[in-house]
Amino acid sequence: MQHRFSMAYAKALDDRDTLQHFREQFIAPVFRGKRAVYFLGNSLGLQPITTQEAIQNVMQGWANLGVEGFFLGGDPWIDYHKKIAPLISKIVGALPEEVVAMNHLTVNLHLLMISFYNPTPHRYKIICEAKAFPSDQYALQSQAWLHGFDTADAIVEVHPKEGTEIITTEDILSTIQQHKDSIALVVFSGINYYTGQVFDMNAITVAAHKAGAKVGFDLAHAAGNIILQLHDWGVDFACWCNYKYLNSGPGSVAGAFVHQRHLKDQNLKKLKGWWGNDAGNRFKMEPTFNPAATAESWSMSTPPMLLLAAHKASLDIFEVAGFDNLVEKSKALSNYLFFVLDHINPNNEKFSIITPRNADERGCQVSISVNKNARAIFETLLPLGIFADWREPNVIRVAPVPLYNSFEEIFIFADILRQLIEE
Ligand SMILES: Cc1ncc(COP(=O)(O)O)c(C=O)c1O
Repeated sequence: MQHRFSMAYAKALDDRDTLQHFREQFIAPVFRGKRAVYFLGNSLGLQPITTQEAIQNVMQGWANLGVEGFFLGGDPWIDYHKKIAPLISKIVGALPEEVVAMNHLTVNLHLLMISFYNPTPHRYKIICEAKAFPSDQYALQSQAWLHGFDTADAIVEVHPKEGTEIITTEDILSTIQQHKDSIALVVFSGINYYTGQVFDMNAITVAAHKAGAKVGFDLAHAAGNIILQLHDWGVDFACWCNYKYLNSGPGSVAGAFVHQRHLKDQNLKKLKGWWGNDAGNRFKMEPTFNPAATAESWSMSTPPMLLLAAHKASLDIFEVAGFDNLVEKSKALSNYLFFVLDHINPNNEKFSIITPRNADERGCQVSISVNKNARAIFETLLPLGIFADWREPNVIRVAPVPLYNSFEEIFIFADILRQLIEE
């Protein structure tokens, strides 16, 4: 057998990869005349080759039909969301009526907390992970503050054990148990942006509900990356951005999930806007809000058609590839990444990997904590055509994604890293 740390071996893995051709459906940056190794799908996914045409179609509809584009033409805008919901709902494990494409991630987190954070003087705490993405921390703080609570008291963070980066499920569940009489809400990310750790969303949901709290997830790093079962797990709400693994473009329209059991609950607090009206009533311009019977009732404004077109162009590729197939390839890619990283760093002398090794506890991102010259090593990567990213104080994150990355690229990256850590 060929040595597994070799270009020939990596190429042989690519030859056996039945999803390899999807790579050609994405435009990657070119460096010194060569396609760059783009490991930043966890930050901004690459542009599908079909996106420009999808946007152009909306532009053309606008040019030809003006506002009538909402109702006429091949793809009337008024019903465009009906094409998106069935595609994205499969990716996040939801029913089509439980999802809606709207706004941006932080905005959606706020809107959903307006519905699902209903503190009382005795039950007001929010349990979350320590080192959540800063925007989430600000959102939690502002919601607690809006309700008149002292954020230091209301927000309870679950920390990793001393000297580690990973938060154990046991610690999360015992924190929920410990505060069971005072929790109103549990909010976690599906995958922590820094470590790449997947949280056990099913167990967290069960524990939060048992404690009488609502539970929501920020799926920025999970949607389009790992298998999710939001409906079956019974999650109350979730939100995500579509510009990372879902390749829908910088600042793309985001997603939101509300569990079916809440969709018709008229007692839930909700910020209302005309687009949340039932479609049949939307244009009657009546003063009474008549909510849609789906997650769309959380949407307030006219949908951003150019952004939705870009979103759908990418979702169509997921549909053809099959999400289960993509996740299977993703695991194979990251297993190979773990192998090559171990090979160049057998005694963990040069770096350590903070992402959990168990494939069920991570997605495709691997976070590498570099012991020496971390920043200098990181800065050498881009001029060599490797797109990775940096998180303070010494972490290089790489995320080989199944739609457009290859085993060969993993080998190229590891071979370059091998040279850089030896210098
Ligand atoms: C985990 C997580 N939450 C929230 C955000 C903020 O998203 P947005 O700027 O789209 O509101 C990000 C952005 O990268 C993120 O990674």
